[in-house]
Amino acid sequence: MKVAVLGAAGGIGQSLSLLLKTRLPPGFSLALYDIAPMIPGVAVDLGHIPTDVDVIGYAGSDPSPALVGADIVIIPAGVARKPGMDRSDLFKFNATVIQTLIERCAHCCPKAMIGIITNPVNSTVPIAAEVLMREGVYDPRKLFGVTSLDVIRAETFAARAMKARAGSLTVPVIGGHSGTTILPLFSQVVGQHFSLAELAALTSHVQEAGTEVVNAKAGSGSATLAMAQAALRFCLSLVHARQGEPGIIEYAYVEGGSPHARFFAQAVRLGPEGVEEVLDYGHISPEEQERLEKMLPTLRSEIALGVEFVRQQTLD
Ligand code: LMR
Repeated sequence: MKVAVLGAAGGIGQSLSLLLKTRLPPGFSLALYDIAPMIPGVAVDLGHIPTDVDVIGYAGSDPSPALVGADIVIIPAGVARKPGMDRSDLFKFNATVIQTLIERCAHCCPKAMIGIITNPVNSTVPIAAEVLMREGVYDPRKLFGVTSLDVIRAETFAARAMKARAGSLTVPVIGGHSGTTILPLFSQVVGQHFSLAELAALTSHVQEAGTEVVNAKAGSGSATLAMAQAALRFCLSLVHARQGEPGIIEYAYVEGGSPHARFFAQAVRLGPEGVEEVLDYGHISPEEQERLEKMLPTLRSEIALGVEFVRQQTLD
């Protein structure tokens, strides 16, 4: 099986490539692509780690050689936020990046499962869907916005607040991946007795966690390490599902028939061909319901921005 990482020379890309080199099953190949000329060197560097995962790096303007034969493509390519920016400020830089990369995916590996990290995810995933649709190869089961970072953050913060063992809690996070569209469902955490004030504080911590990192990095970028760990978790779930392991559940931003918006982050059961079932998020508290209703116009307009970006070109 072949996994391709597009944008592999950046902070997320290099960290994710390292994790994949050490965690993918033996016999896998890892194709690293970046426009930066250093990427063959990253592959040589990783090649010195003793695992049975082949790594090849491809530099230049054309990702095609990295994509041919890929089963899974993970895309962290693009520009990162600086302090004072929202994720939506990245649209003008990253919309074209995603469009170009997805066009190559459509030609080189039309059946691959694609996980998009590039922000603003709420808009870049719709761009990808529209491009794949225009190329006649769109399968909504195989296109994902990677929102696992929101889940690991919510699980980390809840465990800290409850003095529980790190990694021992499950917190659903639904909606999208920007500001208020990130909706953690702390009311569903088993054993929680949070007050309304604690719930509000935890919710806004998860919603602002990306900005917290951007500010702390003081102009040198956004989350790379936790993002890479989250993307590893998601990618390994795709791998295991592809290999036929049953019962693999992940949260992801997908087009899956949500009554709320065309794309919506929620739990999905994964199988060899991608999403097998979109799972209902169940009972939510009145406060979560209110947050959900309030954020939907933002989520829908960020989706529309991505859709229009591609459709407008088709009309021009
Ligand atoms: C994050 O949540 O950390 C990423 O989406 C990066 C960002 O700009 O916040």
